[in-house]
Amino acid sequence: MEKIVIQGGRRLSGKVEIAGSKNAALPIMAASILAPGKSVLANVPALRDVSTMKQMLETLGASVSLDAGTLTIDAAGCDSFEAPYELVRTMRASVYVLGPLLARFKRARVSLPGGCAWGPRPVDLHLSAMRELGAEVDIEHGYIVASAEKLKGREIHFEISSVGATGNAMMAACLAEGRTVLRNAACEPEIEALAAFLTKMGANISGAGTTVIAIEGVRELKPAQDSVIPDRIEAGTYMVAAAITAGTVRVANCIPAHCVSVISKLAEAGVQVMQSDSELIVSASRRPESVAITTAPYPGFPTDMQAQMMALMCVAEGTSVFVENIYRDRFTHVPELRRMNADIKVEGNVATVRGMPALGSAQVMATDLRASAALILAGLIADGRTEVSRIYHIDRGYERIEKKLSALGAEIWREEA
Ligand code: EPZ
Repeated sequence: MEKIVIQGGRRLSGKVEIAGSKNAALPIMAASILAPGKSVLANVPALRDVSTMKQMLETLGASVSLDAGTLTIDAAGCDSFEAPYELVRTMRASVYVLGPLLARFKRARVSLPGGCAWGPRPVDLHLSAMRELGAEVDIEHGYIVASAEKLKGREIHFEISSVGATGNAMMAACLAEGRTVLRNAACEPEIEALAAFLTKMGANISGAGTTVIAIEGVRELKPAQDSVIPDRIEAGTYMVAAAITAGTVRVANCIPAHCVSVISKLAEAGVQVMQSDSELIVSASRRPESVAITTAPYPGFPTDMQAQMMALMCVAEGTSVFVENIYRDRFTHVPELRRMNADIKVEGNVATVRGMPALGSAQVMATDLRASAALILAGLIADGRTEVSRIYHIDRGYERIEKKLSALGAEIWREEA
């Protein structure tokens, strides 16, 4: 097991290049199952979750090669319809293979994902969407067992906005007979990117990026080529790194239009943010002001930036309030931040953070991907040596985070724990 060590106190400066989006790459990789032949995906981030999805596709019989950030997936050889527990339990996004397997092979056996640090993460919306498209779906011994003579287009209304369920339903509907309309669909840029890839495959989709997505089923899809959009959460994380160290960082290869809610919250906190169409320059010269954060589906404030913003508010002037509306108790970073003398009170889905002039270094433990990012951010300004253990969490979603941060002037390195 490895740990990341940070000697806090450095102001960051310089330029960081944002990698391709994990949450866009994963569904697009699954979508390649929909067509026999070679799809090519450029700007794929070097992440554990990407290798897990690569392994998943190979388990299904596809051949996948990754060369310098470009994935070539040949799904012609797909001959299995089973997504095994060993893989699904390590990455919930594996459930994205359900829709494509059903659409192309009319059958799928996908392990139910396990829970995660923030309580159960059900897939009921995925399953009801498949049933509404005409599939028979049962749960047997921890597996989703689905089959369909043929899939027929339907109106599907999602009770709650779900990125994964929207993606799975959209992929399945591409090869269904007739028209499907998804209502209360997720509007995340990663859904728009998935729709763009499916359209390149020959799908007929309109409305992606809005809450109403219409899909006219087609008879077959062809392999396609695309490039993954930049990761808006990685971009947000480095924006907070600049703010928390009172530094100046150029965040390059990003899409500021995907980061509006984070930009406006940082500006409200007194951080200076200048933007062009593919870059952000983030600078701060003093402690941030406290702000109120309420997470919501896109374009609201992203739940995946809640922990990172909380680290910043731990050293703000004044008291901040965080309302987490997407997940129950997505506050596992709180006890670890408290070890760094943060003053945070949690009641239900509300965390109240009283800003302190400084944080203290400590040995802390990562519990999930974004919590580990928050602990690293806190370590950047804590006095002394902070050690973050269980950093396999961070490698799921951040490409070489310690390398990118040390290139910005942080004193940070990786060690055997
Ligand atoms: C995606 O997860 C992201 N993961 C998550 O990012 C992100 O936090 C989440 O969307 C919300 O933005 C990927 O894209 C790979 P949801 P997903 O379905 O699709 C409930 C990260 O850090 N729900 O939008 O699994 C669910 O429990 C990860 O990169 C149901 O009740 O999220 C949650 O409370 C963490 N039934 C809410 O909906 C369902 O069938 C939103 O979940 C599905 C979801």
